[in-house]
Parts: sequence; C-alpha cells; structure tokens
Amino acid sequence: MADYRISGEWLKDDMVLLKIARPETIDQIESLDMKEGDVLIVGYPKTGTTWIQELIWLICNDGDIATARSLPEFQRVPYLEVNYVGIDLLPQLPRPYVMKTHLRSETFRKQIQAGKVKVIICIRNPKDTLISYYHFYRMNSMLGNFKGTWDEFFELYEVKHLIYGDYFQWYVSWLQHLDKANVMLIKYEDMHHKLPDVINDVSEFLGKRLPEHVTDDVIQHLTFDSMSSNDAVNHKNRTTFDQKISPFMRKGKIGDWKNYLTEAQSALVDKTYKEIIEPMGITLMFE
Ligand code: A3P
Repeated sequence: MADYRISGEWLKDDMVLLKIARPETIDQIESLDMKEGDVLIVGYPKTGTTWIQELIWLICNDGDIATARSLPEFQRVPYLEVNYVGIDLLPQLPRPYVMKTHLRSETFRKQIQAGKVKVIICIRNPKDTLISYYHFYRMNSMLGNFKGTWDEFFELYEVKHLIYGDYFQWYVSWLQHLDKANVMLIKYEDMHHKLPDVINDVSEFLGKRLPEHVTDDVIQHLTFDSMSSNDAVNHKNRTTFDQKISPFMRKGKIGDWKNYLTEAQSALVDKTYKEIIEPMGITLMFE
C-alpha cells in the first residue's frame, strides 16, 4: 500500500504538504476580520457540511433557491483554506459572509475570542463519517485516489494519519467552545430525523428566519435526491473528483457503517467516543 501518512498533529503543515492550501492562505485566515452577522460552518470532512451549509446559506438569504441553484456552492460559501474556492473569493461577496472550513479551531483563535462570528459545528456519527471519508479518499485525486481496502483505510484512522487529523481530536478542538453563546452544534442525524426542528433552532441562533412561503420548497431542495442532481452542489465539474469511482453525494444514509466495520473496529470507535466525546456532554446516535 502506498504511504499516505500525514501528520495529524498540526494541520497547517498537512494542508500545505498536500498543496490544498498555500502557507500564506492559512496566515490570511488567521487574521481574517470576521464581523457581526458572519457565519462560519465547521465540520470534520464528510459530516454533511455541504448539506448543512446549503441550509444555512438559504436561511441567511431569505430562501433564495433560484440563486442557490444557479451559483456553485463555493461561490456562495467559500471553503476558506482551499485554493481557488476559498478566502480569495470573499471580497467579491456581499456581507455578511457565510464561510466553511474543515480546519480545527486553533486557526480561528482570534475570531473565536472576538465573539462576533457565529460558528456552526457539524457533527456526524464517526463510523458513518469514516465510511464516507473512505469513499472520498478513493474518488479524490488530491488524496491520491486511495487504492487500499476499507481495513487499510481504518488503519490510517487508527494511527491518526488522515488528512485534517483525528476525528476525535478534531472535535475536542471545536467542542470546547460550545459553551459560548455564538457557537452551535448541528447533528447530521438530526437533519435526517427532524429537519424542521433544526431549521427552527438555526433560525433562532442566527436571528434570521426563512420566509414561511418558501419553507416547504427549501425542505424539498435539501433532499438527497434533489441535492444529488443539483450541479451547484454535487461537485460534478470538480476535475479532481472521479465520481465514477464514488459519487460526491454517495448514499446520504445513516448506518452504512454496518456494511463495513468489523466488531473490533466498531468497538474501538465506541471506546474512543466514550472516552472523549461523551464526557463533553455530547450524545451521538449510533444507529
Ligand atoms: P455519504 O458519503 O455517506 O453518502 P461533506 O459535505 O461534509 O463532504 O459530507 C458528505 C456526506 O454528506 C456524504 O455522505 C453525502 O452523501 C452526505 N449528504 C450530502 N447532502 C445530503 C443530503 N441532502 N441528505 C443526506 N445526506 C447528504
């Protein structure tokens, strides 16, 4: 198997190493002036960030589905650390900004302390997240079009060599800020089970509501089928993604992990969850 080892400790080096971000980009992000009303969506990769960001953008933009369908997602919600689709696009956008990142909280130390930006943390059952990440590694040439088996991918997880670092350490980094008034958590599983409640909670948090007459259309727009066939969000034109290997909008389901994880792998994730996430008062559904 090719050596995919990447230090999971400090992401700046990882991102630069993989040529995902330029060193100066991370410096720029660290000093980005985030203002009142700006929203930062953060999530470990494959936790449904694209889904959640689509909802947030629509709430922030009065449910403007026409623009959501015509402008690619990164032109509405720049992916801060990534070349061409990130921080460089911000000056072209109206304020307040809606931004997304997969970086850990250390990069945003100053902005979190200033307390102006609203931060939305996306989280998903780590087992489903890892399965989704495995398929993403396979289809993404920037991640070397991973050729290994699921078990080999799980080894990379075990030794904390996945890009963006270890799932659990990543969440320790962000969840420590959950006690702040300007930080909120959204669970992927809740998006499935009780989207109207999530919409209400986010609206309250952001102080912005969807106009009533568009709510049903927004819910329809956010379905897996609708998003899979929507070229503004399905990354159809990303040349680094080979969607014949695995579509970006792959299955969109809860519980696919049961088709992959061995009992031992599942037990290891459960143990780490109990040691790290549960003591922080977060309950995740392992359906
Ligand atoms: P799967 O690979 O399990 O299908 P991210 O946007 O953070 O990269 O996360 C991608 C995951 O979110 C993928 O999971 C994708 O299918 C899922 N997803 C995206 N839009 C969705 C939707 N509308 N409904 C359910 N899942 C969705």
